[in-house]
Amino acid sequence: MGSGPSFPMVPLTRDKIILITGANSGLGYEIAKWSAMMGATVILACRSESKTREAIAKMNQDFQAEKAKETSRLSENTTLALEFMHLDLESFESVTNFCEAYKKSGRKLHVLFCNAGLGWIPYQKTADGMEMLLQVNYLSHFVMIAKLLGVMQQSGPDCRILLMASVAHEWGTFDLKTINYSGPPSDFSSRNYYGRSKLYQIMQAAAMGRRICGSNVTINSVHPGIVDTQFYRDWDTGIRKCILCLMQCSGKAISPFQGAKCSIDLTVNPRHAGVNGLYWVDCKIVTPSSDARNKQKQEELWETTIGLVRQYLTEGELKRINGEIK
Ligand SMILES: NC(=O)c1ccc[n+]([C@@H]2O[C@H](COP(=O)([O-])OP(=O)(O)OC[C@H]3O[C@@H](n4cnc5c(N)ncnc54)[C@H](OP(=O)(O)O)[C@@H]3O)[C@@H](O)[C@H]2O)c1
Repeated sequence: MGSGPSFPMVPLTRDKIILITGANSGLGYEIAKWSAMMGATVILACRSESKTREAIAKMNQDFQAEKAKETSRLSENTTLALEFMHLDLESFESVTNFCEAYKKSGRKLHVLFCNAGLGWIPYQKTADGMEMLLQVNYLSHFVMIAKLLGVMQQSGPDCRILLMASVAHEWGTFDLKTINYSGPPSDFSSRNYYGRSKLYQIMQAAAMGRRICGSNVTINSVHPGIVDTQFYRDWDTGIRKCILCLMQCSGKAISPFQGAKCSIDLTVNPRHAGVNGLYWVDCKIVTPSSDARNKQKQEELWETTIGLVRQYLTEGELKRINGEIK
């Protein structure tokens, strides 16, 4: 850690609830750990209980190590408030069950960080009939947001939704007719469809930001940099392995901690209260691609998305995400 983190260590209490998807590794791990080390309760919404329990144990070890280094403004608690909840973003049923269990718990929700994501994978279709990257990276988080927005609206001032997007949104073609890929698997471009999923998240932050503007909830998207995480786990052969080695050796691939700094800042820093509908890189507001900022395209995407997930949402959830109930 050297001289310590560059984001402010904000004193948080255990009644501050932060929910992070895909928090058992990479960027999500760092965001969860640092938020908990400031004192918040963090819910790790992940698909593997064993991996998540291991991550929780490791986070507590890291916490003790930071205490030993006398890192300033760490929580005075002896252990971190970290909890596992099962969530598989491949399945709308799992998303619905997760949200129902969360609502039943009666807890508040102050930050919902939609971080989980898959990278350049070959074509796969989910049991719900969606192309995998579309559902895991974008649609399931969209449904989750719609279902938990009501809880956030009842959780007091300054509640935040954050979407882990990417500069790779620039590679994604905006073509709603082919949003759910149905061509031959051999013609599938994972680079393009990964880029599309990240483009949709940036467009969602803008379109939903307009709808919930003036309420106690904000939504923003963030690019973390090129970060050396499990994300590149399938890059184990050929040209991709070479690219990854080059990125690592040239220092272009940053550590998960470095990559998570802007996300941690957006999660906890009171300075960002009320900031809404924007795209962030390196803790600065950045202009995304021309497609991403095209309002007409954002609205077309919104309508198409609602069409794809309508059957999983109640009337009330639909009204809330459309900004009709604030
Ligand atoms: N690394 C980069 O250079 C980079 C750059 C730009 C954006 N991003 C974005 O950053 C986010 C986090 O990625 P990372 O780099 O930290 O990679 P990572 O270490 O692979 O983390 C991805 C997380 O997503 C989870 N996940 C995958 N599929 C899931 C599913 N069906 N249901 C629930 N969770 C699922 C993974 O769980 P398992 O451990 O169970 O697989 C893991 O916890 C992603 O959205 C990615 O697109 C990364």
